[in-house]
Amino acid sequence: MKILLTGGTGYIGSHTAVELINLGYEVELLDNLFNSKITVLDKIEEITGVKPVFHKVDLLDRAGLDKVMAEGHYDLVIHFAGMKAVGESVEKPLKYYENNIGGTINLLNSMKKYDVSKIIFSSSATVYGDQGVEEVKEDMQTGIGITNPYGRTKFMIEEILKDVSVANPEFQIVILRYFNPVGAHESGLLGEDPNDIPNNLMPIIMKVSTGELDKLKVYGDDYDTVDGTGMRDYIHVVDLARGHVAAMMKMEEGVSIYNLGTGEATSVLQMVAAFEKASGKKLPYEIVGRRAGDLGKIYANVEKAWRELDFKTELTIEDAMNDTINYLEHVE
Ligand code: NAD
Ligand code: UFG
Repeated sequence: MKILLTGGTGYIGSHTAVELINLGYEVELLDNLFNSKITVLDKIEEITGVKPVFHKVDLLDRAGLDKVMAEGHYDLVIHFAGMKAVGESVEKPLKYYENNIGGTINLLNSMKKYDVSKIIFSSSATVYGDQGVEEVKEDMQTGIGITNPYGRTKFMIEEILKDVSVANPEFQIVILRYFNPVGAHESGLLGEDPNDIPNNLMPIIMKVSTGELDKLKVYGDDYDTVDGTGMRDYIHVVDLARGHVAAMMKMEEGVSIYNLGTGEATSVLQMVAAFEKASGKKLPYEIVGRRAGDLGKIYANVEKAWRELDFKTELTIEDAMNDTINYLEHVE
């Protein structure tokens, strides 16, 4: 089985590449390197002994994409490529719609042209919007109360995929709704190394611990949660990568949707405490006001992934913190 990973040198793509290569799959990566580095290929080789074929192609470059697809004879595409900075998407909505939606349409057209009909798409818990419910389930309505263009691109791409499935019943489509990916590869060679401005909790904690930022701003301590701070479902990126393998095994015609999370929620202050415990260092923070658009608490209902994919997470927040600290010690 030959698999193309768009966005394959990125954070989640690179970890998924490692899992797939370790299982013996033939993997090729496509990326424009806008938010990742070419050196990731050497890191993958160091971990697995295999340096995957790499295509430096932008999904907006239709001719370049068609060339890769025509020559690749892929059995499956895992589509990670996309821009993901929520704040930036508010400032530059057209860029996000063009890149994420335009890129996906080009990819689907190219797949159709060259008879590739299996795709796994990186969606997000953000598609649930604000339902007034903490534990969200795949069959709930989506698209209501999404607060930013990035989130709307995920919702819109899900809808596009459903339409493509109606018109092309031979397509096998899996939509994976990721909760909050954290952690790094245990080797310390791969992790989250964004070129962009981080707005997610873990990259900010990392920058505070290295002194690049002086403190973490905790957005609100007046939510109805264990300690008043926001609670999320943090999934170790290696578990998340394994979730793709589980989904790949069970692909069938039509659209299948799965939450990939742990089913448990952790607060910002619990994350700070876990990082402090793992690093043995105090992490300076300050409580500030709520961030616009934030929910108090959201976590995955994981029953469908358990039942249908036989997928359960194995790694803990402690593992994620230890692996993140190990990664920070390795970053050049
Ligand atoms: P990432 O930025 O590390 O990886 C995405 C990769 O896509 C980058 O290497 C980037 O260079 C590439 N890319 C972007 N636009 C491209 C284009 N037009 N052509 C070719 N390559 C392009 O992000 P990640 O955290 O690995 O996320 C992977 C996917 O998962 C994204 O679609 C993201 O929206 C989604 N997701 C991420 C999170 C998260 O918190 N990390 C949560 C939910 C969903
Ligand atoms: N937080 C802080 N300070 C910060 C950053 C975050 O207190 O500097 C808090 C947030 O208020 C929230 C928690 O940490 O309670 C997690 O915040 P993130 O920004 O890391 O993650 P979110 O769940 O808010 O959102 C992210 C992406 C969304 C995506 C969602 C689910 O930004 O686009 O994960 O995948 F949809």
